[in-house]
Amino acid sequence: MAKQMIDTPNLDELENGPWPSFVTGLKRLAKDSDMMVDLMGQLETSYQTKMGYWKGGTVGVFGYGGGVIPRFTELKDANHKPIFPEAAEFHTLRIQPPAGMHYSSDLLRKMCDVWSATGGSGLIAFHGQSGDIMFQGIKTADVQPAFDAFNEMGFDLGGAGPALRTSMSCVGAARCEMSCYDEAKALRTVINNNLDDMHRPSLPYKFKFKFSGCPNDC
Ligand code: HEM
Ligand code: SF4
Repeated sequence: MAKQMIDTPNLDELENGPWPSFVTGLKRLAKDSDMMVDLMGQLETSYQTKMGYWKGGTVGVFGYGGGVIPRFTELKDANHKPIFPEAAEFHTLRIQPPAGMHYSSDLLRKMCDVWSATGGSGLIAFHGQSGDIMFQGIKTADVQPAFDAFNEMGFDLGGAGPALRTSMSCVGAARCEMSCYDEAKALRTVINNNLDDMHRPSLPYKFKFKFSGCPNDC
């Protein structure tokens, strides 16, 4: 790593206490990533000033009207240059997980490798409340190649904006004795039949299908 780690006294406080800390995770990633060093710089600044410095915008891939959540820094110097340039663009790719969230460890490793190899920050959330795998932190120019690589693995972008959103199902028939139907098949069938409304937002508001195999609704 070329870039010197920035002092983060406020973020360091969040490593105290008995629970795992996201700051420890960010620091681990920052050892090999200038982007994460600068992300921590911006976050530390927010804790000092009690201000947020991210704005949205429009970033996407060919043929899709959603699925990428753009984040641009507003933290600039007097010459309008980003103070933390490596994290000046920190977009998120929403990728639809498999129904029931079934992964093999081999697949998870491949996802991590693809994310790093295509310019991603290394930060991944399994999963956001949207139901997507959240690949967080990539520059505008790298978005299309990263999406292409995930698409090559058989994965697709999720929903964003006024559109059909990424779906979720319980683990259901794969492992649960309470299951009343094939949740994964139902999810895939319903979503694939309406996929156009996920990728090209044209609804008045977000729209979601979620699949519980029984009234326990876990
Ligand atoms: C202390 C800092 C932050 C707080 C408290 C915060 C809070 C939240 C909350 C409550 C949600 C909704 C929960 C969810 O969807 O899982 C959310 C979603 C999101 N945030 Fe943040 N956020 C922070 C920093 C950031 C940063 C630094 C970025 C990117 C630069 C970011 C990008 C997003 C995105 C893309 C989503 C959508 C997640 C989804 O659809 O699941 N957030 N944030
Ligand atoms: S919602 Fe019902 S079928 Fe699905 S995992 Fe929970 S108990 Fe099992």
